[in-house]
Amino acid sequence: MMSVAQRNVAAGRAAFDIQSIRRQFPILAQTMRGKPLVYLDNAATTQKPQVVLDTLSQYYAAENANIHRGVYALSQDATQAYEGARSKVATFLNAAEPAEIIFTRNATEGINLVAQTFGRSEVGAGDEVVISEMEHHSNIVPWQLLCEEKGARLRVAPINDDGELVLDELAALLGPRTKLVSIVHMSNSLGTVNPVREVVELAHGFDIPILIDGSQAAYHMPVDVRALDCDFYVVTGHKLYGPTGIGALYGRRRLLDAMPPYQGGGDMISSVTFERTTYNEVPHKFEAGTPHIAGAIGLGAAVDFLDDVGFDAIVSHERRLLDYATVALSGLPGLRFIGTACEKASILSFVLDGVHPHDVGTIVDTEGVAIRTGHHCTQPVMDRFGVPATARASLAMYNTTGDIDRLVTALSKVREVFS
Ligand SMILES: Cc1ncc(COP(=O)(O)O)c(C=O)c1O
Repeated sequence: MMSVAQRNVAAGRAAFDIQSIRRQFPILAQTMRGKPLVYLDNAATTQKPQVVLDTLSQYYAAENANIHRGVYALSQDATQAYEGARSKVATFLNAAEPAEIIFTRNATEGINLVAQTFGRSEVGAGDEVVISEMEHHSNIVPWQLLCEEKGARLRVAPINDDGELVLDELAALLGPRTKLVSIVHMSNSLGTVNPVREVVELAHGFDIPILIDGSQAAYHMPVDVRALDCDFYVVTGHKLYGPTGIGALYGRRRLLDAMPPYQGGGDMISSVTFERTTYNEVPHKFEAGTPHIAGAIGLGAAVDFLDDVGFDAIVSHERRLLDYATVALSGLPGLRFIGTACEKASILSFVLDGVHPHDVGTIVDTEGVAIRTGHHCTQPVMDRFGVPATARASLAMYNTTGDIDRLVTALSKVREVFS
């Protein structure tokens, strides 16, 4: 099976017509505060293309039925669409088989699932879980909960002043006590893209399984879980131009087979008596109850959309935009970037001397420009850089240099107000 990236290269996709991309996102045509909306909070969630909106409404209007249990045609069609979406996500991530894809509510649930199943069965007193200093709270707290319960220890690999993982120090943390490494692919508050393939090699050198949090990476770059050779990989639908309430966990089949179930309920069982319950095969063993059927099908439409646009075009467009924005923002007096890694993508986190980030966000909003301010669910990153919060502009495939110009103008207004 070819990965999305390989298929795009094979298909020779290159053409990228930004205006035609923008037309596919109806929300972008809106005005906000009386000005055309500039949406630069994509790291929080991306906007949805018409094809995803249509897929959702078509599903509810014409295909809605519960899955896996009906003998009638509508239910069989819904089941096929849901399982078809699983196959699409498997192809998108280049998993070996659809059964390695478990639908979850979001990335957070994917990480909690691994902590509560793999973690609870494999991690004991005195064992260690290794994460990094740049993790989202979603990749910190589930491991803290597990470590507290088990008497295990959470070890944290540091980052340097540019916001890059210090690989030697991560390597030095690994050893016989380490039961799992869990690391972010791309940081949501710094933009750093971690050398995850190298981290996988380091972990596997000690036979340690590794989870990669791909919440940010998966909509900015092609992901191939088999080339990465990772054991778990989580994505979240609403950042992939898909619906909220749906995400996916990739897991290596051998590990998934051995893991205990996550939640108990319908669909995850093979048979139930009051004395004994046996469990369904993967992936169903991990999907208790009626899943977010429409969400999964909508996510399938979103990954098809990403495939159609092509990551070769997305990567080069966003690269150009990031370079343009980095130069444009650097010219603003008193602006300091937080996150200056050599390998970074699509995120500009910054502080303005003498202005609280919340004031920055509020003033640029009056210009119709939506950016995020705060700790971005990465409080340890804020502590590391000695700031309470940052302002963050984050890019997606539909942003333009014009959007960046509007941001720069809005930031100049902030300077005027605070001068
Ligand atoms: C790096 C990273 N990990 C995890 C998450 C959690 O995603 P969700 O809230 O969709 O579960 C996010 C969301 O911002 C993120 O950026």
